[in-house]
Amino acid sequence: MEKQVKRIGVLTSGGDAPGMNAAVRAVVRTAVSRGIDCVGIRRGWNGLINSDFINMDASSVSHIIDKGGTMLYTARSEEFMQESGRAKALATCKLLGLDGIVAIGGDGTFRGALALSRQAAEAGHSLQVVGVPATIDNDIGCSHYTIGFDTACNTAIECIDKLRDTMQSHERCSVVEVMGRHAGYLALYVGIAVGATAVLIPEREINFDRDIVEKIRRARLAGTTHYMIVVAEGAGSALEIGKRIHEEIGIDPRVTVLGHIQRGGSPSARDRETASRMGYEAVMALAEGRGNRVIATRDGRIIDLDMEEALSTTKTFEMDRYQILEALSSTKQMEL
Ligand code: F6P
Repeated sequence: MEKQVKRIGVLTSGGDAPGMNAAVRAVVRTAVSRGIDCVGIRRGWNGLINSDFINMDASSVSHIIDKGGTMLYTARSEEFMQESGRAKALATCKLLGLDGIVAIGGDGTFRGALALSRQAAEAGHSLQVVGVPATIDNDIGCSHYTIGFDTACNTAIECIDKLRDTMQSHERCSVVEVMGRHAGYLALYVGIAVGATAVLIPEREINFDRDIVEKIRRARLAGTTHYMIVVAEGAGSALEIGKRIHEEIGIDPRVTVLGHIQRGGSPSARDRETASRMGYEAVMALAEGRGNRVIATRDGRIIDLDMEEALSTTKTFEMDRYQILEALSSTKQMEL
């Protein structure tokens, strides 16, 4: 017979993402509605190692759905990567009587969750884990969408729109670096949305002449006197790209690294709604005895997958979007 789930923990881990609070709220409120106790583990996996937790009820998550960041704080825990760190975490799980944990974060967070669950099983303790994907990078293989991506895109777009005003007035070239770690999703979506002259992403080998010099030349021929180059952090440094543009084309670009500003701000409708649905499904999976799952989106639907399978899934980069960008950024015929 299925073990009744009485108490679960919820934590946020890795880089914060707008919408994490909405996911925490959904987890707590769904648990309460199912008669399950919920404990908030603070500062990611470190909270389990250090017994840093708070008891949560429906009102503990009031007025957080609109807030960026995470009320539970977050961290990247080195200690938890070690078996000895996880042993301490398991002792806290036992002490708290946790039947399951909802871990909100990226694939590093899920790897940690799976290792903890396995170590628990080896020690004869049943601990089910469910992962909820939240990262502005949108780089989790098993899920089409990750919480925070939409808000981060909107933040970057707002900043770049402002940059464009001044670049246009001075007839300058702007080189903007956006986050994304090893992935180019953020850069590509933002590049399309701001009508960038060129976008550099790690998924496509960079050819400076083809990807920058030629693009600027075409824009110039089309009568444009300002240029917007978007660089994914994983594709190289905007400072270096700016220097090279100066050396090879003779124009004097201004470089902006958007940095952590992209992680903040009130979550968009898409992020609040997705986080609410994912948080709900995470608790339902635990309540229904489906442990070691990752909640994911597939074409807008919410599904759950085996965690090991989810972790081995790689994402196919949407190169067709890059082609759209190419078509839209070349305003003159190719022969020119
Ligand atoms: O994974 C989210 C992210 O913001 C990446 O885009 C970026 O490379 C990284 O985290 C930055 O990490 P930190 O906050 O530790 O500087």
